[in-house]
Amino acid sequence: MLCSDLFFELINPRAFDMRLLFLGDVMGRAGRSAISEHLPKLRQEWRLDFVVINGENATNGAGLSGDHAKLLFDAGADCVTLGDHAFDQKEMLGFIEREPRILRPLNFAKTAPGQGARLFTAQNGRKVLVTQVLGQVFMKRAFGDPFSAVDLVLRNHPLGGQADAIVVDMHCEATSEKMGMGHFCDGRASVVVGTHTHVPTGDAQILPGGTAYLTDAGMCGDYNSVIGMEKAEPLRRFVTGMSKGRFTPAMGEATLSGLFVETDDQTGRAKTVRMIRHGGRLQAAIP
Ligand SMILES: [Fe+2]
Ligand SMILES: [Fe+2]
Repeated sequence: MLCSDLFFELINPRAFDMRLLFLGDVMGRAGRSAISEHLPKLRQEWRLDFVVINGENATNGAGLSGDHAKLLFDAGADCVTLGDHAFDQKEMLGFIEREPRILRPLNFAKTAPGQGARLFTAQNGRKVLVTQVLGQVFMKRAFGDPFSAVDLVLRNHPLGGQADAIVVDMHCEATSEKMGMGHFCDGRASVVVGTHTHVPTGDAQILPGGTAYLTDAGMCGDYNSVIGMEKAEPLRRFVTGMSKGRFTPAMGEATLSGLFVETDDQTGRAKTVRMIRHGGRLQAAIP
């Protein structure tokens, strides 16, 4: 750090705030390419302290391979969360045990490998707790109660105590369940952000207790698609009720989609929240 930078930080308390970026589900090669191309530069330009990426669809739309996990970390991720597709790539069953920066859902299954919550140390030395849970409404499988699971983690890691910032990735289908989780964590987490639907919502806000909230981060993928998949097969199934082929990720230029949050270092609560859209077809938004 230059002396002038240090002086600037000493006289400007905002410089001590933590700057977090959360990016939604990375969808196939298009999403991976956009992360590799843009994230290293954004990490510098936006002076990001900590980056979380949802990687549950990064490998051919289904799960995450070890190589693709490395690609996300090399591009600038500090933590990669998964989702209901956590172990679609079978190698992740072993890989996650060797790579603690990858989190699977807290309530996935009692015997699942890996962790669902972890306290990370950011580059600036501050502690960031990240956790992910699966919802129960309209999901393909019955998962355990996400509210009691998150409650236990938050009780064990109070914001402003062990954790300087806390990020909760609420991975589920229903907007109501995501909003419920936002209010459930309000004042106890820095950020509650939804993933899984691959379509960004426009309701970024700071809840009354100080938690930054967005119902869904959207995907990092090609938006000329049906939630990241080439249009032909989903359309065929909707129109005819019959399938003919497999779903394959759309390969056009991807948009990075997610959430930028600045937190107050004293309290861990959010001071600023902005939706992020960068590159590809969606209209851009920046911090
Ligand atoms: Fe999912
Ligand atoms: Fe997904």
